[in-house]
Amino acid sequence: MAIRKVRTEEDDVLRIKCKQVTEVNRGTRQLISDMFDTMYATNGVGLAAPQIGIVKRIVVIDDTQGNKMALVNPVFTLKEGEQDSNEGCLSLPGFRGRVKRPYKVQVKALNEDGMPVTINAEGFLSVILCHEIEHLDGILYKDVAFEYEPIPVEERE
Ligand code: NI
Repeated sequence: MAIRKVRTEEDDVLRIKCKQVTEVNRGTRQLISDMFDTMYATNGVGLAAPQIGIVKRIVVIDDTQGNKMALVNPVFTLKEGEQDSNEGCLSLPGFRGRVKRPYKVQVKALNEDGMPVTINAEGFLSVILCHEIEHLDGILYKDVAFEYEPIPVEERE
């Protein structure tokens, strides 16, 4: 169990285009395990490797509705429809925003065992996938949001 420090906006590591993972090995699985620990410790539903300072194409997700996954080298193979999402980000604490996202996506990736997986998602899970995978290209949701604002003090947890 290792909780890593979550990097915030002023850290340039969030703006780097992350590198493909060439081999899924024990080190990759340790990193994924730390990413899950860090995500759960901060009550997130997703975390991308650059958020803990690692410039590799890896995301972890748990939408709290039974969809838990680690994705290595994820790529979109379909984006369909449209929805307005409400988003926040562990790297942009105290802010919230709204983004136009595809309603449905398909993502191909490798899992933590290095096996190919295909994820078909819609609704909230589609939003999480878009948000997390964009992190791997140095994009933060505030860059693509049509609304972005500080969370009012009375609504903060
Ligand atoms: Ni984020």
